[in-house]
Amino acid sequence: MSEERSAGAEPVGVGRSCGKVLLMGEHAVVYGHPAIAVGLDDGAHAKARWSSGRSSELAVASWGLAVEADGEDLLSQALASILERLAVRRSLSVELEVHLPVGVGLGSSAAIGVAAVRAIDDLTRERRSEAELGAAYQAWEAVFHGNPSGIDHTAAARGGTFVYRRRPEGALIEAIAPERGARLVMVVAAPGASTKTMVDGVRQRVQTEPQAAKDLASIGALVEETLPFVAAGDWARVGEAMNTNHALLRALGVSCPALDAAVDVARSAGALGAKLTGSGGGGCVVCLTHQGDEHLERVLNARFEGVLCRTLN
Ligand code: MEV
Repeated sequence: MSEERSAGAEPVGVGRSCGKVLLMGEHAVVYGHPAIAVGLDDGAHAKARWSSGRSSELAVASWGLAVEADGEDLLSQALASILERLAVRRSLSVELEVHLPVGVGLGSSAAIGVAAVRAIDDLTRERRSEAELGAAYQAWEAVFHGNPSGIDHTAAARGGTFVYRRRPEGALIEAIAPERGARLVMVVAAPGASTKTMVDGVRQRVQTEPQAAKDLASIGALVEETLPFVAAGDWARVGEAMNTNHALLRALGVSCPALDAAVDVARSAGALGAKLTGSGGGGCVVCLTHQGDEHLERVLNARFEGVLCRTLN
C-alpha cells in the first residue's frame, strides 16, 4: 500500500510516469522501423480520488487546467477513453503534476496518460495486467493522434533506454545498456506543433511521394546500424548518425528553420550530434556530448530557454 494511500481515511490512488526523448527513429517507427528512446525520469505524478461529481475530472493545477470526461476537447475525450478501457463506472477526479515542458516532443502527453491510468488503477485496486494497462495508455494516445506507434507511452511507462519495433502482434522492446555514458542536452527551439498534424503530413507524403517511404526506410536502416554503437558507447558514431537522421527528417518535411538553426548552434558548439526529436514542426532538439562536458550546456543555456540535461546510460 502506498504512503499517500494510507495517509488518510479517503482512498487515494497514485501513479507516476517518465517523459522521453527519441534519440533516433521518430516517424519511421510509426511504419514498423526501429527507434531508440531514452526515458526522462520524473515525467508526471497523478493522484486519483472518488468524487461525487456527475462526471469524472482531470486537472493540472499548475496550468490552471481542468476538464470533465463528458467534455468535447481532446483531453476530455482522452480521459473518457481511459475510463472506458478500465471499465470505471463511478465518478473520480485525477490531479496531476507535470515535470516536463509541455508539447515540445518530450512525451508530456503520454506521461500524463500513463500517470493517470496508473493512479486510477491504484484507486480501483483491480490489479489489472500490464497488457490491460497498456491498452488504456494506447487508447489515451490514440485520441491525440490516430496512429501512435506506442513508443511514447512505452517510454512513459518503463523509462530507461530501449529500442522499439512496432509489430501487429505487439511491440518488440529491447533494453539497451551502453558500456559508457554520454550526456544528452535538450533545447526547446520553437513552440511545439501538433503531433497529429505532423504524423498526418508524413502519411500524406508517403501516399503521394515514393521518396518519402524511401527516407523512412533509410531512417530505419540507420537506426539498425547505429544500435551496436549505442551499446558500445561509441558516441562519435552515434552523433554522426543523429546528424544524418536529422537530414532525413528534414527531407521528410518535419523540420523547420528554428529547429535547423538550433541544430547548427549545437554542432558549432561541439555537439557530437544534434537533431530534432519527437514529431517536429517545432519543439525540441536533442544534442549529444561526452559525459562531463559542460561546454555545450553553457553555450545552449546562453542562447535558449528551457535547456534540459540527462545522462544517457
Ligand atoms: C512522437 O513522439 C513520435 C512519432 O514517431 C509518433 C509516434 O511514434 O507515435 C512522431
